[in-house]
Amino acid sequence: MKLLVTGGAGYVGSVCAAHLLEAGHQVVVLDDLSTGHRDAVPDGARFVEGELGATARAVLGEGGFDGVLHFAARSLVGESVEAPEKYWDGNVVASFRLLEAIREHAVPRLVFSSTAATYGEPDQVPIPENAPARPTNPYGASKLAIDHMITSYAAAHGLGATSLRYFNVAGAHVTGTVHLGERHAVETHLIPLVLQVASGTRESISIFGDDWPTPDGTCVRDYIHVDDLADAHLLALQHASAGRHDVYNLGSGHGFSVREVVDACRTVTGHPIPAVVAPRRAGDPAVLVASSDLAASQLGWKPSRTELERIVADAWEFARGR
Ligand code: UFG
Repeated sequence: MKLLVTGGAGYVGSVCAAHLLEAGHQVVVLDDLSTGHRDAVPDGARFVEGELGATARAVLGEGGFDGVLHFAARSLVGESVEAPEKYWDGNVVASFRLLEAIREHAVPRLVFSSTAATYGEPDQVPIPENAPARPTNPYGASKLAIDHMITSYAAAHGLGATSLRYFNVAGAHVTGTVHLGERHAVETHLIPLVLQVASGTRESISIFGDDWPTPDGTCVRDYIHVDDLADAHLLALQHASAGRHDVYNLGSGHGFSVREVVDACRTVTGHPIPAVVAPRRAGDPAVLVASSDLAASQLGWKPSRTELERIVADAWEFARGR
C-alpha cells in the first residue's frame, strides 16, 4: 500500500514507519519536526516537512494513497493542562484539516493514535473499550474529540477507520543497524527517566507516591512494547472496512508498579538506581491496565514482547546507543 505517516519522525510514528517499510509498503512521512527528529525517519521513506493542513493536502493530492496513519500530535498531559489551546489547535484543529484532506482526495483508510487518557479515572480494570470516556485533562479530551470526528467521517463519507488507544508505550525498535526509540526534549515518561539515572545524566528517580491503593503502594501501568504496538497498526490497516470506525485498546493486559519498573531497570543495567519517594503527581490514576481482548479477537493481535525486562532492555539498548 502507499501510505502517509504523519508524525513519522516521532517515537511511535518512526517505529511504525519502519515496520511498514519492512512489510513492503511505500511510506511518505509528514512531520513538522516540532518534536520529532529528521534522523528518526527510517531509510526508505520519503520525507516531507510540513503541517497537517496545506502540506498534507498537497501530498495527498499527488494521488494513489491507500491510507493515512496519523501519529502527529502534542502528547504531554501536564502541558495540556497549562496550555490547552495548544491541544485544541495542534491536535483537534490540525486533525480536522487532515480529515478534510483525506475526504477531498478520497483516501480509503485511516489509523489514528488514540490514548488510554480518553478514559480518565477508570471504574473497572482491565479497561474495556466500552468503558465511559471521561478524560481528566485536555490531552485526553483532544484525542477523544478526534475519535468522535473520525466516527462521523466514517459514517458520512465511507472512511474505513481505526483508533488505537495506547496504554504506556515503552521499549525501542532495535534491529540490526536501525535503532528507534523515545527521545523527547522534555522527558516525562518513567522508563526513559529511570534509564537516565543508569546512564549518569540524572542522580535519582522520584517515585510519585508510595501510598496508592496498590500492592506495593506505587502506581500500576500497562507497559506495551512499541514493536507490539506497531504490529497492531499493520493489522488495523488490513482490517479497515469502508464506513466503519473501530476502536481498540492496546496494552499487554498486565500491570507493573513503578517499583517493579525501577527494579527491572536495576536488573537490566546493573546500576543501583537510587529512588526517592516524592509526592503524588496530580492527575495520576492509581491503576491503568488495558483489556485488549477486542484487538485480539477482531484484529488477531497478540503482543509477544510482554516481559518487563525485555521492554526495558530494548529501551536501554537504544539509550546507550545515543
Ligand atoms: N512516574 C514516577 N516518576 C517519574 C515519572 C513517572 O513515579 O519520574 C510514575 C507516574 O506517576 C505513573 C507511572 O510512573 O504512575 C508512569 O508515568 P508516565 O509518565 O511514564 O506515563 P503515564 O501513565 O502518566 O502516561 C501514559 C502516557 C500518556 C497517556 C497516559 C494515559 O504517557 O500519554 O498514559 O493515561 F496520556
